[in-house]
Amino acid sequence: MKKPQKIADAKGKLGILLVGMGAVSTTTIAGVLAIRKGLSKPIGSLTQMGTVRLGKRTEGRSPLIRDFVPLASLDDVVFGGWDIFEDNAYEAAKTAGVLDKDLLEQIRPELEAIKPMSAVFDRRYVKRLDGPNVKKGKNKKDLAEQLIEDMRRFKQENGCDRLVMVWCGSTEVYLTETPAHASVAAFEAALEASDDSIPSSMIYTYAALREGVPYANAAPNLSGDVPAMLELAAKNGCPVAGKDLKTGQTWMKTLVAPGIKARLLGVEGWYSTNILGNRDGEVLDDPESFKTKEESKKSVLDYILQPALYPDLYGKIDHVVRINYYPPRGDNKEGWDNIDIYGWLNYKMQLKINFLCRDSILAAPIVLDVALFLDLAQRAGMSGIQEWLSFYFKSPQHAKDLYPEHDLFIQLMKLKNTLRYLRGEELITHLGLEYYD
Ligand SMILES: NC(=O)c1ccc[n+]([C@@H]2O[C@H](COP(=O)([O-])OP(=O)(O)OC[C@H]3O[C@@H](n4cnc5c(N)ncnc54)[C@H](O)[C@@H]3O)[C@@H](O)[C@H]2O)c1
Repeated sequence: MKKPQKIADAKGKLGILLVGMGAVSTTTIAGVLAIRKGLSKPIGSLTQMGTVRLGKRTEGRSPLIRDFVPLASLDDVVFGGWDIFEDNAYEAAKTAGVLDKDLLEQIRPELEAIKPMSAVFDRRYVKRLDGPNVKKGKNKKDLAEQLIEDMRRFKQENGCDRLVMVWCGSTEVYLTETPAHASVAAFEAALEASDDSIPSSMIYTYAALREGVPYANAAPNLSGDVPAMLELAAKNGCPVAGKDLKTGQTWMKTLVAPGIKARLLGVEGWYSTNILGNRDGEVLDDPESFKTKEESKKSVLDYILQPALYPDLYGKIDHVVRINYYPPRGDNKEGWDNIDIYGWLNYKMQLKINFLCRDSILAAPIVLDVALFLDLAQRAGMSGIQEWLSFYFKSPQHAKDLYPEHDLFIQLMKLKNTLRYLRGEELITHLGLEYYD
């Protein structure tokens, strides 16, 4: 056994600040409140229901993750956030239409008490949205300072010991890195100048990291993943993670693609299409927001299948991803995948996957886990990119000059080994020869 890392206790309350109180956020909040009341179990949450094997298979040690590492307890979590609409969390959850009215009524007072703070928002970055609950400021720097004030007030009014921020706002238009993102100094000058290359989400990221608050991005837009933000995260001891929650079709893709590759079967084409009718679907109906999502969804296959290493099997794949806005489905997305594969002597086969999922039901436990793990990471003295949280994301943030790991089971192994490392337990390599000595 190695020396465990020093981890500060999870004492006091943890404030989880969610940017955007839409379907994902309200499903997360309502879920935690319901679980706290004993109305349900935390299904889908690794931090709450997952175990971690320690030592040899013969030792029979597999504690719950939440007993193994000092995570904030659900009883100590307080939620807050921002939205461009004034609806409280109860009204917003009703609009999102994910959860049954019966369930919402049982936690109504607690949900009604959560009212969104006014947002930093600019339609230039989310074209299909507009709302009244928006801050005014003389420039983007001023707006960031207002967010910092919001965080301090929230922390004080709710008696929080620590905060974590997760962007659960709408997907913004596709942006790429510019010189304004190159360093904190350049970024702050660009904030003063209200530079167009700083979208609203990045103003929240900056505010969080300036305040020493860990930050995660649940959406695919550029925010915590530019050099200026990483510099600030390192300076202020903030762990960051992102981006774009791995739910629905991409999650399925990262399950199936490694299986096909493990057997060295070829892939000729992968056609993925979705229908989705919630507000997220409406925002993604705008081609500029869709491009951000498309980039995030498409990169997965390339990294998993490694066409440069396996040109005969994956060198020429037609990979198409479509999302169609279809209001009757609401949050209940339906995805179809058609995968054209080939085997021994080039004989062709097809695989069809029809996934009738519930987007926010899959996303909520991930938001909770990411928030709790980021808080743990900060108490363990970890800052910057938390690659061990790749497990939760479609486009995992990774160190420069490194390719991201997309295989869900490698990601899970990495996550659990990180927890073992933090507690000074042996890492598990799955070699297992010692059982046969
Ligand atoms: N549900 C999933 O499975 C899933 C998976 C991956 C990524 N995501 C991403 O998570 C995000 C949230 O998804 P959702 O289904 O909750 O969408 P949603 O449309 O229901 O909620 C987004 C909320 O963000 C608010 N918002 C937008 N810009 C804002 C700003 N600048 N400040 C404050 N609030 C702002 C909107 O008013 C809206 O209420 C989306 O970007 C989506 O693409 C969701």
